[in-house]
Amino acid sequence: MTQSDLFLGLDLGTTSTKAVLVDAEGALVAEASAEHPVAYPRAGWSEQSPEDWWTSSIAATHAVVALAGANASTRVAAIGLSGQMHGLVALDAQGAVLRPCILWNDSRSADICDRWMRAPGLATLLRTTGNRIFSGFQAPKLQWMKEHEPALFAATAHVLLPKDWLRYRLSGVMMGEPSDASGTGVFDCAHRTWSTELLSTLGFARSLFPDIAESPVHSSTLSSAAAHALGLRVGIGIAGGAGDQAAGAIGSGIVEEGTVSCVIGTSGVLFAPSAQWRATPHGELHAFCHAIPAKWHLMGVVLSAGGSLRWFRDHLATDAIAEASQRGVDAYDILAARAARSTPGARGLVFLPYLTGERCPIPDAHMRGGFLGLDVTHTRDDIARAVFEGITFALAGNITVLRSLGLKVNRVRLSGGGAKSPFWRQLCADAFDAEIALLETDAGAAMGAAILAAVGAGAFASVEAACAATVRERCSIMPGVDASRLARAHVKFDEATRHAQGFRH
Ligand code: XUL
Repeated sequence: MTQSDLFLGLDLGTTSTKAVLVDAEGALVAEASAEHPVAYPRAGWSEQSPEDWWTSSIAATHAVVALAGANASTRVAAIGLSGQMHGLVALDAQGAVLRPCILWNDSRSADICDRWMRAPGLATLLRTTGNRIFSGFQAPKLQWMKEHEPALFAATAHVLLPKDWLRYRLSGVMMGEPSDASGTGVFDCAHRTWSTELLSTLGFARSLFPDIAESPVHSSTLSSAAAHALGLRVGIGIAGGAGDQAAGAIGSGIVEEGTVSCVIGTSGVLFAPSAQWRATPHGELHAFCHAIPAKWHLMGVVLSAGGSLRWFRDHLATDAIAEASQRGVDAYDILAARAARSTPGARGLVFLPYLTGERCPIPDAHMRGGFLGLDVTHTRDDIARAVFEGITFALAGNITVLRSLGLKVNRVRLSGGGAKSPFWRQLCADAFDAEIALLETDAGAAMGAAILAAVGAGAFASVEAACAATVRERCSIMPGVDASRLARAHVKFDEATRHAQGFRH
């Protein structure tokens, strides 16, 4: 380790690979990205070719190294990996990819999950893994291959998660780490190892899955072929890295109990670190390993957060889009200004944001959204307010579960598109009954992956120390006078949600 060392973080996303370089103090030096295609061969299916990830990883690495200036390629001392979770890459005994990767947002295995919820059943799943099963997860996809592509399944000798396949391509070594393995559906998260009991119940050989090393550990090294392709030095270490949510949490410094993150993009994700193993009684939240040895996290995923607002803008508020282009402003700002003109509780109107079903804390793929309580006196301001509130209450429901487990949620670091709106930030502070903090920079999961590589190289004593040195908050927002009126509206929202659960799609 020298002071001139750089650490490369690669985040293999759903639409692109992002690359960042950080220096030995953890400061961001450069970032770049390169896209890769997604295929949707049928409704509900989504697939990607791992070779396309390789191409975009090479392009993003060359681009970030060029941005970092002369000698950067020889200064890169280690690599950290992050990526979209849950995907299934199936390989034969020679390590050749057998079929396109089935991605995290592919729902072809929904029936298999329903069946596994009956047998082996929720109690067994929770006891062995700490989690429910979702069609996004890796193991039901493998079962789908077994049932629908028996010849390919018979040829399958190894299965890898997307970023672990990238590691294999970089190093020739098949190796996993606990945070991403947690999202397979067959990982014993409490003990940070594969559940041999569940694997044998489901009829999968343990040998299909890679060995596990903790996230900061340099568990493999860059091969000469990969070093040549990336323009980096042969033999540099590759840290275990993390699934994109855990890596993003490290990039935002979400490493100690009490500090929680909320990322509002298309989905909304609440991420709460835990210093001890904790799971929810019915699998309301994901209970996964953190990318820090001997730490875990609970995670609530609201499927349509920003997605509901976008739907509202595009279908029910097209006048806001027209007004925005006329005034040269963002349509979301117009919607927030309208919402701000209504009053807390949207004068009794409730919006349920379950446009694509829900994951947490209500695992119900079939539930759908709606407006409840509409009357002739409601205005477009009230409707806009109800939409913002409904999304925020759905997120807050996850915080209620976290608190019921004894986790403190005093401070929430907000990021993603939803963090841009001052109105929404205040609404989050009020509805979460927590202080909302914003970060100075948020380079996300790629940054977290680079930090893990730096920790593994000894640049920092621990992941926590690296985050303390690198992540800075820029401002915070306290709950305000509207909090108690919102609490009443939240009760109404929960009541409306119970009605929606009986109304099957
Ligand atoms: C996490 C999840 C997504 C994917 C794709 O559970 O489904 O974050 O990892 O980004």
